[in-house]
Amino acid sequence: MYNKILITGGCGFIGSCLIRSLAKNHNIEILNIDNLTYAANINATQVTNKNNYKLIKADISKSKEIMDIFTNFQPDAVFHLAAETHVDRSIDGPSSFIETNILGTYNLLRESLSYWKNLNTINKKKFRFVHISTDEVYGSLGQHDSPFNEESNYKPNSPYSASKASADHLVRSWYKTYQLPLIITNTSNNYGPWQFPEKLIPLTINKCLKKEKIPVFGDGKQIRDWIRVEDHVSGLLKVLDKGKVGEKYNIGSNCEIENLEVIKSICNILNEKLPLENFSYNKLINFVKDRPGHDFRYSLDNNKIKDLGWKPKFSWEKGIEDTVKWYLDNKNYLNLNEKKYSGERLGKL
Ligand SMILES: NC(=O)c1ccc[n+]([C@@H]2O[C@H](COP(=O)([O-])OP(=O)(O)OC[C@H]3O[C@@H](n4cnc5c(N)ncnc54)[C@H](O)[C@@H]3O)[C@@H](O)[C@H]2O)c1
Repeated sequence: MYNKILITGGCGFIGSCLIRSLAKNHNIEILNIDNLTYAANINATQVTNKNNYKLIKADISKSKEIMDIFTNFQPDAVFHLAAETHVDRSIDGPSSFIETNILGTYNLLRESLSYWKNLNTINKKKFRFVHISTDEVYGSLGQHDSPFNEESNYKPNSPYSASKASADHLVRSWYKTYQLPLIITNTSNNYGPWQFPEKLIPLTINKCLKKEKIPVFGDGKQIRDWIRVEDHVSGLLKVLDKGKVGEKYNIGSNCEIENLEVIKSICNILNEKLPLENFSYNKLINFVKDRPGHDFRYSLDNNKIKDLGWKPKFSWEKGIEDTVKWYLDNKNYLNLNEKKYSGERLGKL
């Protein structure tokens, strides 16, 4: 049982879901370190019991700050989610991806190691560091290739995926070389409430609400393996509880869908939930020039994490319907965040 959990990037889409889930357990103390970039949303970390949750604004790349946080908080587990995450932004400006995803992770590993080395034998044995990564590190699959498993080679194609792949390699080496108790998880495309609206699903919903064109890269035939964010979070908790140190676990829910189909599903839900006379949201679909280096297909073999006793709860149909409903009930979230993105390259496709 872990009682003091440090989360990096907890004001982001997945980190905030993890915090909302953990905070229900009053025996757990949570410390969130986040430097509140454009992608952060403090409201998403709303938790019922505020006594067991604290946020510190800090950059994971800053050695002294991170060292003080470890010394003062004394975590028994770390979930590392802080990252720059938008592929299109990584194409336009890779530096912050290198700084946060690679150098930030390096700093976190270095400070975790020096903290861990000074723990007593019992706490040393208990300590875990779970590094959250992506299926994009494996590169792209052809239509008929088998899904990626934990042994698949790394072949990242974008500055984002290359920075995440670099971080994964650092994490692996900190286990192999220094025995820091690390576990890597690679997840597929997450969806659900509180996702930053530059990403495909909230972007599409927002465009529909404003009756603006929905940009679709290329022919829209690219395939992603979708997982509801709450299922990803339950997978992370399972890995912390039952995962083996030094191992990797893929967290996906066997839900491969073409991007164009994702967009059509959203349009169809809106045609039902928010009908407009003589209008179909599908009419807003607009094909645009493909993203450079665009991966065709991701798919994850999730048998290894299933062997730990985890399985996803959400079907795509239920997951996407609930998600659309959440954004309809929280239109302000879409409006507020829209000011923070440029609108040029949109949608994590
Ligand atoms: N969203 C997905 O579909 C997906 C899929 C696979 C993997 N992942 C991985 O999961 C993790 C979380 O993704 P997300 O979608 O929640 O991201 P997000 O972009 O929504 O949030 C990232 C958070 O990290 C914080 N952050 C960024 N740089 C920081 C720094 N230097 N120091 C401290 N905090 C910093 C931001 O302020 C933000 O709150 C990332 O590591 C990402 O690579 C996400």
